[in-house]
Amino acid sequence: MSLIPVALVGVGNCVSSLVQGLFHYANGGSNDEQGLMHWDMGGYRPKDISVVAAWDVDSRKVGKDVSEAIFAKPNCTAVFCDHVGQTGAIVQMGRILDGVSPHMASHPDHRRFLVSDAPEPTKAEVVESLKRSGAQVMCNYLPVGSQQATEFYADAAITAGVAFVNNMPVFIASNPVWAEKFRSAGVPIIGDDIKAQLGATIVHRMLTDLFAKRGVTLDRTYQLNTGGNTDFLNMLNRERLASKKESKTEAVQSVAHTRLDDENIHVGPSDYVPWQNDNKVCFLRMEGRMFGGVPMNIELRLSVEDSPNSAGVAIDMIRCAKIALDRGLAGPVLGPSSYFCKHPPVQVTDDEAFTAVEDFIAGVTVN
Ligand SMILES: NC(=O)c1ccc[n+]([C@@H]2O[C@H](COP(=O)([O-])OP(=O)(O)OC[C@H]3O[C@@H](n4cnc5c(N)ncnc54)[C@H](O)[C@@H]3O)[C@@H](O)[C@H]2O)c1
Repeated sequence: MSLIPVALVGVGNCVSSLVQGLFHYANGGSNDEQGLMHWDMGGYRPKDISVVAAWDVDSRKVGKDVSEAIFAKPNCTAVFCDHVGQTGAIVQMGRILDGVSPHMASHPDHRRFLVSDAPEPTKAEVVESLKRSGAQVMCNYLPVGSQQATEFYADAAITAGVAFVNNMPVFIASNPVWAEKFRSAGVPIIGDDIKAQLGATIVHRMLTDLFAKRGVTLDRTYQLNTGGNTDFLNMLNRERLASKKESKTEAVQSVAHTRLDDENIHVGPSDYVPWQNDNKVCFLRMEGRMFGGVPMNIELRLSVEDSPNSAGVAIDMIRCAKIALDRGLAGPVLGPSSYFCKHPPVQVTDDEAFTAVEDFIAGVTVN
C-alpha cells in the first residue's frame, strides 16, 4: 500500500492528467520537478500517491483499469506521459443521480457521456468499497451541476472516514452545514472548485489585487472562456451553471478593493467550441481609472490545456489532505482551501493564501 491511497470520482479529463502526472513524476529525477508547486510536501512526494479506487458512469470507462479508462472517449486532453502503468483499480459503476445533463444526448457519442447500464451502487456499497480499497483521500471530479451526486459521494466519504478533496463547484467545504458534517465526523475536507495552476482565475485575481494595491479603480471587467471538452459541453446547460458562475465571479470580487456592481462584472464559461478539445481560451478585459481619474484598460488572452493545468494543484491538495489526516484535523482545512480553490470557506488574496498554505505545510499553523 502506498503512503497516500486515493479514490477518484469521475474519470474524465482532469483525472487523465492527474494519473498521467503521477506516473510522469514517479521517478524523481531533478528535471521532473518542473511544473509542480511543491516537490516534497511535508515529507510526501508525488510518487507517494496511488489510485486505489474509482467511480464513473460511462460505459467506455466502467470495468476498465483506471490506466485505460483515462484514455477512453470522450476524454480528449493531451497525452504527455507514455508510461502510464496498470493501477489495479478498476473503474466501478457510480451512482448517476444528476451527473449527466440530458442536453448531451443531442451531441455525437465521441463528444458526450454514454451512460452504462451496469447496476448503480448503494451508499453502503460505496462505503464498503472505499474501506476495502484502503483509500484515505477521495477526490471529486464530477461535472458542474452534480449537486445530488456530489452530496452522495461526500456522504460516503464521511461514513468511511475518508478525507474529501472537492475539485468542482458544488459547495461542500464552503457550505457551513456540510463543513459541520465533516467536522463532527472527524474527517478533513479541502474545497471547493480547484483553482488551476496558471488559469483564468488566478490571473484575473492577481490583476484585480494589483489594481487594488496600486490605487487603480476597477470599473468594469469580463472574463470569457471557451473550450471543447465535456466540461464546456456540460456547461452549455445554463441551469447547471449557477454555482460555477458564483464560484468564478466571487473569486474575483473577493479581492477587489470595492465590490463591483453585478452588471459591471461578467465571469464565466462562455461557449463550447468542439475543435478546441481540452484547450481553453480566456478573453479578459479590465477597465479602470488611474491618477486623476484618467481611464485605462487591459486586454489579455490566455490559452491553456485545461486539465493538466489543474493536476499539479490536485497533487498538492491530496498531500495537504493527507497531512490533515496525519494531524487529526476535522472539517475544512482553511489555508490549503484558500490557496488551491476558487470558492474556499475563507477568501483572502493569493499572496496571503500562499503564506497560509506554506505555514500549514511547515506546521507553523495547525490549519
Ligand atoms: N480543468 C480545470 O482546471 C478545472 C478547474 C476547476 C474545476 N474543474 C472541475 O472539475 C470537474 C471535472 O472536470 P473534467 O474536465 O475532468 O470533466 P469531464 O467531463 O472530463 O469528467 C467528468 C466525468 O464524470 C463522470 N460522471 C458523470 N456523472 C457521474 C456520476 N454520477 N458518478 C461518477 N462519475 C460520473 C463522466 O462520465 C466523466 O468521466 C468539473 O466539474 C470541472 O468544472 C476543472
